[in-house]
Amino acid sequence: MGDLGFASDTGAALPLYLVPKGGLADALSGADGGISAWAEAAGFSGKAGEALVVRGADGAATAALVGLGDATDRARRRFVLGGARAKLPKGTYHIANPGAAGADLDEAALGWLLAGYRFDRYKSQNGVEAELAAPDGIDAARIAAIASGEALTRDLINTPSSDMGPAELEAAARALAEEFGADIEVTTGQTLLEQNFPMIHAVGRASPREPRLIDITWGGEGPRLTLVGKGVCFDTGGLNLKPGSSMGLMKKDMGGAATVLGLARMIMATGAKIGLRVLIPAVENSVSGAAFRPQDVLTSRKGLTVEINNTDAEGRLVLADALAYAEEAGPDLIVSMATLTGAARVAVGPDLAPFYTDDDGHAARLAEAAAQVRDPVWRMPFWAPYETMIEPAIADLDNAPSGGFAGSITAALFLRRFVEATPYIHFDIFGWQPTAAPARPKGGVGQSARALFEALPDLLP
Ligand code: BES
Ligand code: MN
Ligand code: ZN
Repeated sequence: MGDLGFASDTGAALPLYLVPKGGLADALSGADGGISAWAEAAGFSGKAGEALVVRGADGAATAALVGLGDATDRARRRFVLGGARAKLPKGTYHIANPGAAGADLDEAALGWLLAGYRFDRYKSQNGVEAELAAPDGIDAARIAAIASGEALTRDLINTPSSDMGPAELEAAARALAEEFGADIEVTTGQTLLEQNFPMIHAVGRASPREPRLIDITWGGEGPRLTLVGKGVCFDTGGLNLKPGSSMGLMKKDMGGAATVLGLARMIMATGAKIGLRVLIPAVENSVSGAAFRPQDVLTSRKGLTVEINNTDAEGRLVLADALAYAEEAGPDLIVSMATLTGAARVAVGPDLAPFYTDDDGHAARLAEAAAQVRDPVWRMPFWAPYETMIEPAIADLDNAPSGGFAGSITAALFLRRFVEATPYIHFDIFGWQPTAAPARPKGGVGQSARALFEALPDLLP
């Protein structure tokens, strides 16, 4: 993990000017004349992500400028300041014109911190870089909490399955719980059967790395929120083995778990008045003589029977038992996050997090919060006419309708069968940045957690 805090020593911080495209004169209206002359001589135009370092006679940096682009650029690209961080020389900066047209200080500050993220667990060195004084007028502690929640998510996803099996995911959850004084209970292996989590056990039993259900609870006050995250630590597809090209990224199939843990960190670190619970079914979907098979019929915790038509549709099975268990305790809201379907990726690509809810108010609030914090989500329908697609011949439910039409929707409808009377939001996330972008290196990435964190006070009673 890189340095994800604001500068602590801001005494000699250099001024950093945010410059919208074509807005040089306005942006520098309070600046020293030498800076304006330098910027003009350099032909600095304020293009998105453009950086300019102003130097004194001795060659040392005395100020910096970063271009914000125009409104169209900013709609297309998030975290422009974060993207420019690596172009600035080592040193501490402070934003000298926080009122710059088009500048969103929360986004600027968060992008800066997230650009400091490195997955360096397997690297021997770690460089020091430009630092930023927390801008006035933002809630710096909240932004830092969001950044470290996001960094936790990235670290968990990026860690290869060899070091991130169900036991290691449990260890990460335990470390988080301990840091914030949360309670944690874990049900493992055969005990899953005794405690009636048959589908979590069935999906995970082929692996020598035992399946488990991780259960964190924190905070006594306020409305009760339960987060459920898919923790498939590696998804081979099971007996319906994935081809190599599809299996390549499947260390990230615990992306839902990683994202709910990152969100839990944001909630706990900011001391939100929420009674929080996090449930993570953690398994490896593996291949062995003990594996569950196509055409097996499983009886879920809830009692609904499920015909297995594809062992690669395993996420909905482990989530189903966790969702049923979540509802038994009567929370005010249940949210699931899961790298559930390839169909969601085909539909919306890697950036957008599709979500499902029956509550139009929740959907509107989430969309608004997502735009505000630049964590894009997109509503999809729990389309009731497709319910028949998940009702096969010999059991209550089919885990993998043939034909594959509307794959993300039918997966969401499957999950909804296990939440009867509690407000429910489901995110079908990707959890992976395929090519580097500002503040997001290639690799694991959180999706929808920041949007949900922002909207939460309005989603809970
Ligand atoms: N983990 C995958 C879904 C996935 C694949 C997410 C690629 C992101 C990228 C999931 O377990 C899966 O394999 N789903 C199948 C379901 C199908 C067999 C009904 C899928 O989407 O193909
Ligand atoms: Mn699968
Ligand atoms: Zn999966």
